[in-house]
Amino acid sequence: MQNAFTNPLVALHEVTLSLLTQDSSDKLLNALLDRAVEFTGADSGTISILDDSRKFLEIKAFRGFEQDMPKTVKLKIGEGVTGRCIVTGKLRNVGDTSQDKYYIAVRQDIRSELAVPLKVGNKNFGVISVDSKRLDAFNGEHEEYLQTLADYAAQIFTTTTSVESLSHRTHLQDVLLQISGVLGKYADVKLFFEEVIRILADKLGVRRSAIYLYDSVTNELSVAASLNYSPDEIAKGRYSPGEGVTGKAFKQRKAIAVSDISQDSQFLNKTGHQREDEDIVSFFAAPFFEGGEPRGVFNMEFKFQSQSKFEDQSFLAQILSSLFGQALQIEKLVQQSSREVKEENIILRRQLKSTFEYENIVGAHPRMAELFARMKMAADSASAVLITGESGTGKELIASALHQNSMRSANPLVKINCAAIPADLLESELFGYARGAFTGAVDDYKGKVLSAHKGTLFLDEIGELDLKLQAKLLRVLQEKEFSPLGSNKVIKVDVRIIAATNANLEAAVKEKTFREDLFYRLNVVRLAIPPLRERTSDLPLLVQHLLDKICERNGKKVPVINEAAFQKLQSYTFPGNIRELENILERAVVLNAKNEIDVSDIQLGDGSIVPTAAAVGAGAPAGFDLRTYLKEEIAKSTPGEIFTSVIGNVEKEIIRIALNQNQFNKRKTAEVLGVNRVTLDKKIQQYDLFEI
Ligand SMILES: Nc1ncnc2c1ncn2[C@@H]1O[C@H](COP(=O)(O)OP(=O)(O)OP(=O)(O)O)[C@@H](O)[C@H]1O
Ligand SMILES: [Mg+2]
Repeated sequence: MQNAFTNPLVALHEVTLSLLTQDSSDKLLNALLDRAVEFTGADSGTISILDDSRKFLEIKAFRGFEQDMPKTVKLKIGEGVTGRCIVTGKLRNVGDTSQDKYYIAVRQDIRSELAVPLKVGNKNFGVISVDSKRLDAFNGEHEEYLQTLADYAAQIFTTTTSVESLSHRTHLQDVLLQISGVLGKYADVKLFFEEVIRILADKLGVRRSAIYLYDSVTNELSVAASLNYSPDEIAKGRYSPGEGVTGKAFKQRKAIAVSDISQDSQFLNKTGHQREDEDIVSFFAAPFFEGGEPRGVFNMEFKFQSQSKFEDQSFLAQILSSLFGQALQIEKLVQQSSREVKEENIILRRQLKSTFEYENIVGAHPRMAELFARMKMAADSASAVLITGESGTGKELIASALHQNSMRSANPLVKINCAAIPADLLESELFGYARGAFTGAVDDYKGKVLSAHKGTLFLDEIGELDLKLQAKLLRVLQEKEFSPLGSNKVIKVDVRIIAATNANLEAAVKEKTFREDLFYRLNVVRLAIPPLRERTSDLPLLVQHLLDKICERNGKKVPVINEAAFQKLQSYTFPGNIRELENILERAVVLNAKNEIDVSDIQLGDGSIVPTAAAVGAGAPAGFDLRTYLKEEIAKSTPGEIFTSVIGNVEKEIIRIALNQNQFNKRKTAEVLGVNRVTLDKKIQQYDLFEI
């Protein structure tokens, strides 16, 4: 981010203010040089202005040189870096002064020098130069900054020297100060124009005034802001370059002052304005520039009072027009910097996306950020990954994201849950079999490992793998080969293995139920997902994300969640982590007709019950009648599906409650319910309680 110091816009605005309050042009030049030296980190610098003979440059301000330097050093135009700069009118950046044929040493230790001309229009009248004891001290950014500063300051310099010769200076300076105070205040330059005109009318009695902007497409000057112009006059007030006083000032790039418009043939009065009184009216037109190019003309009219006042007003017109040039420049800078900010944002967002690219994984907690960073590192490597985390923390989600963001993403991601398949079937499921390997093996079966060739194999609940299969898996990891069941054939395979577990594998290794060598092979990259209760700062983000997801799935409008409901979530520990949060929110959305989730809609898994769960008896609220409940349910169900749907609902809630009561430990839940683990997993899947 740019600060006030490096932002040229801010610096320029400050310079304008300080310049306009300087009572002499010397002070102005010193202020300018301070900025230049400060920004570029130079050791010394000078500002020199062409003298009357136009053969020499007079040193008007200097830094880092001896006091008598302006007397001892004579800068001749065409000589030295500065002298060349004024002749060519071009910036010179000399990275190594010993290699520059024009360089003349003013001081022995200068290694590099940057010189920028001060010019108004095409007229060069001075040079700002900065020097450094280091080689190649000045870069493109310094060049650009100095150039902008020089252009800008040149305009102010010429006008300030004009102010110095104004007779009723004090009053005019006050007005100028007020105007410079609003310079840069408006992003839209037209608003600035309008404000200036208002100040002029108030403080100086300007009768009419207009600011014309040039449009290169129509090749016309037209009114951008005006004082005492009727809409009709504004519409008529269009000039081609060269036409009338306004067009001439533009084309000839110089200010024109007409003391009595009634006596002047150049004055066209295209707007058709009728002047009723007998006063003599003076008219001033001054062009303004941006980047050396004329961009428009500033006009004003005063009642003629005296020749000296007329001359002052003429100066004033020029000063103001130079301020308009600056306003345009500021507007351009503002637009440029806001575009840069926008671009920066896009780049940042893109970086963020390319860094993570995990749109569906929410997490801003530092531990999640660290996890994302590790995922990014892991994505491109081929090494095995071990994902650990409690149930419902997103292990499978992260495994998928890893695959999707890896170089293998065009190839398959094959998933297998080692706990959901009985051990004897798991071997053939994983490694395949040859025809006749066992009764029923009527054909060859490829198996999951081979299906994942060139892709990724996701082994969920790896802790459940038995020792025999652990050995076979180790061979895949080490030798990149395996043999199908009932076959001696050795199959070479290229798979990346991502394993996940919510068990403590280190403990299993100690208990010798998990092979140590396999553990180390899998544990090359470890992604440990923190439980939700350890990153509750992510709760707002997650709730929003999950509500969006749930509502999209259910075709519902996304509800708001009120403070009390959110508080309730926040005070909960979520043993089932994000999946549990998702379930809680899903119930809140589905059971809800309102568009607001209230505290009563949040039913936590701490034994609190839902109507269907109450049906099973345990903890049924007073007044609850199972028969009435079932009657209602039956009435709601589609005929022919009553058994499946009503019993299904009951079964689903029983499992949900049991899971909650057993901290989502599936092994324990299966025991409590008296079903085997495989059945439980099937039911969980069937009721969409978990995605396994
Ligand atoms: N960081 C997250 N951002 C958004 N959604 C998430 C996040 N983590 C998990 N989820 C969602 O939570 C649910 C559970 O995630 P997932 O199935 O990956 O968990 P798991 O750790 O594999 O659970 P289990 O151990 O029970 O198998 C999914 O619906 C998933 O999309
Ligand atoms: Mg899982």
